[in-house]
Amino acid sequence: MKTLIKNIGCIATVRGNAAKSGKAQGDVTFTENAWILCEDGKITDIGTGDAPCGAVNTVDAEGNLLTAGLVDSHTHLVFGGWRENELAMKLHGVEYLDILRQGGGILSTVKFTRAASEDELTEKTRDILSEMLALGTTTCEAKSGYGLSVEAELKQLRVVKKLNETQSVELVSTFMAAHAVPPEYKGNKSGYVDEIVNNMLPEIKDLAEFCDVFCETAVFDAQDSKRILEAAQRMGLGAKIHADEIDPIGGSELAGEIGAISAEHLIACRESGIRSMAKGGTVAVCLPCTSFYLGKGFAPARDMIEAGVPVAIASDFNPGSTPNLSLQLAMNMGCYKYRMTPEEVLTAVTLNAAAAIGRADKIGTVEVGKQADFVIWDAPNLNRVFYRYGHNQVKTVIKHGEVIKK
Ligand code: NIG
Ligand code: FE
Repeated sequence: MKTLIKNIGCIATVRGNAAKSGKAQGDVTFTENAWILCEDGKITDIGTGDAPCGAVNTVDAEGNLLTAGLVDSHTHLVFGGWRENELAMKLHGVEYLDILRQGGGILSTVKFTRAASEDELTEKTRDILSEMLALGTTTCEAKSGYGLSVEAELKQLRVVKKLNETQSVELVSTFMAAHAVPPEYKGNKSGYVDEIVNNMLPEIKDLAEFCDVFCETAVFDAQDSKRILEAAQRMGLGAKIHADEIDPIGGSELAGEIGAISAEHLIACRESGIRSMAKGGTVAVCLPCTSFYLGKGFAPARDMIEAGVPVAIASDFNPGSTPNLSLQLAMNMGCYKYRMTPEEVLTAVTLNAAAAIGRADKIGTVEVGKQADFVIWDAPNLNRVFYRYGHNQVKTVIKHGEVIKK
């Protein structure tokens, strides 16, 4: 089916099929007074001036800005319950890792997730995805890690698979049983690492593309992380790592060393970590809403860009450290708190985010041959999107050439 998008005030996009770093991260092209032709879900032609005739469907962009659909490259999407009780604890000064040490935090979401049925989790997550879609997210990574047993991890991963087939946001699965040590293995972390490597990975490997580890004080150290991620790589999964979120214990250095596709969080990332990621071709997935919500510092995103590390920005949506699903809010924060330009942030939530989930050849730019995933903004130019914040600025969402939200 042919679709024409006409009257586009301006297309803003970076170009190419690989992550951008350094100056190239801000190298966004602006095409004014444009149209786009799509067929079978892909972009077949782009032009300016008079639009061609003969399309079956026409979408009028009414002079607004169009970008590629937003890619949220880091979320903990599927979980039971919520944790509003932790807000009060936090306001009384209790630290995030102390809540986890006391058996709350991630472990309380594990209880809720294990208790929920697959159907309950599916319907709850479906609602969340429809909110994300309305905010412009057309592709989303989803980590497991609230099951922490073979059965409960498989349940989370099956929910993602089912939703990928039955709603519009495209999902990419990451296996993250190394998110916390479950109660059954309390005091026996190495037994749990054995369980992940020997029993869980072989069972789940066909349901996930990536494997992630929470490399952090009181959770998994760099040695555990290396063992788990290298085992995952041998089974064909790409490596991701939650690195330097609170303490720099070697996660970002390890990421570059093992050629991880991404290192994520990086609030406390050191220069040695930045150098290693640059050398290893690792994408830095930065999560400014988590810094904001935890009341912590912000990742040194500017230093990373200058050192040649491609920076992506994601929401980190989860029930604990940041229950926010708006990638738009993360974009604003990227601009205000990382001091990244609107152009650099656009690349961070499109092409670089796509690269962080192995999709840079398919999505993330507005170019002939790429998937026809777009956002039409309620804004005439890119600067307006970043200058305003706090409300939904997305007007129309198009996925595979079809209008999904208007
Ligand atoms: O990315 N840090 C580990 N995981 C999540 C938080 C998960 C939770 O608190 O439930 C994060 O911040
Ligand atoms: Fe996370």
